Amino acid sequence: MSMRLPDLHHDDSDELAALCKAGGDPLRLKVLRALANDSFGVLELAQIFAIGQSGMSHHLKVLAQAGLVATRREGNAIFYRRALPAAGGRGGALHAALLGEVDELRLDEAIRARIAAVHAQRAAVSRDFFSRMAERFRAQQDLIAALPQYRDGLLSLLDALRFPAGATALEVGPGDGAFLPELARRFARVTALDNSPAMLELARQRCTEERLGNVEVKLADALNDEHEAADCVVLNMVLHHFAVPAEALKQLARLVRPGGSLLVTELCSHDQNWAREACGDLWLGFDQDDLAHWADIAGLEPGESLYIGLRNGFQIQLRHFAKPENQNGPRQRMTGRKQSLFEQGPRALHR
Ligand SMILES: C[S@@+](CC[C@H](N)C(=O)[O-])C[C@H]1O[C@@H](n2cnc3c(N)ncnc32)[C@H](O)[C@@H]1O
Repeated sequence: MSMRLPDLHHDDSDELAALCKAGGDPLRLKVLRALANDSFGVLELAQIFAIGQSGMSHHLKVLAQAGLVATRREGNAIFYRRALPAAGGRGGALHAALLGEVDELRLDEAIRARIAAVHAQRAAVSRDFFSRMAERFRAQQDLIAALPQYRDGLLSLLDALRFPAGATALEVGPGDGAFLPELARRFARVTALDNSPAMLELARQRCTEERLGNVEVKLADALNDEHEAADCVVLNMVLHHFAVPAEALKQLARLVRPGGSLLVTELCSHDQNWAREACGDLWLGFDQDDLAHWADIAGLEPGESLYIGLRNGFQIQLRHFAKPENQNGPRQRMTGRKQSLFEQGPRALHR
């Protein structure tokens, strides 16, 4: 009589077991907590949790196998971020509940200090770049995406918003100020904030040359200093210079008046590592879904979007996010995933 061997094929219980295994370790839970609004490379995580790189790689592999973290190549480095629960998929409810509980964890003081050190290292790279490169800024920037390539698209989004007379605008990171004349024509008052004295000087010169009497340029860190909120906050090609883009969107959302708008021009995800050296980029663009998700956490609602493909292979996303009139502050957590703008079908313009 022949014995029937147990069926060894992969089944749904394997996925649940991988999820339970991944969640069954205090360090891995803390890694998930650290990744709540951020992404880190393996070396950064090893530094943050003060363990060796190979040990951290092992933990990340277990988390990745369970579908709790996703990877993204940033040039030569692999960055890890939290993966969102698959709506309706096997383990989705457990995954969402686990992240919910993880978000209640408080990381030790020492871990938080090392996270801050990693952020400070990233921000210093960006500041150094702009202090060294101000003179060559426009030429370097144009290697990737020049304002004329997205100006019309951005203005069409802006003009469709029909701001009332007397509305104010805030441009964060105006660079050499090339977009300020457009804002000055459309808003009663415009403030331009840049944390690089060299770049701010270029913006100031532009305002003088073009006699922009309603524009005030200020040397300030948009994320750390206090600023007056505006009806329209504009961020052109700046987000990829911020150490923690998700956190930056939260800070910037606070600078938008209720009923106002945040307009973000950004690169879509790309793999052109040379942009780090040539243009000081900390991040190689962003997934459309990630931007929508971060804006959602910041309490902003998605509006119109435009996508512009450039001949050099880069793709630009022009995104409008609205701040609701009545809001009780940024949301802490998103349990399900909203349909992204990308999934809704971006309107693509090809130049
Ligand atoms: C790539 S440039 C973009 C300039 C311009 N918006 C454009 O599209 O040409 C990025 C600008 O953001 C500024 N910046 C970076 N981090 C900043 C921060 N935390 N606060 C204010 N400005 C910042 C830089 O100094 C630089 O002028």
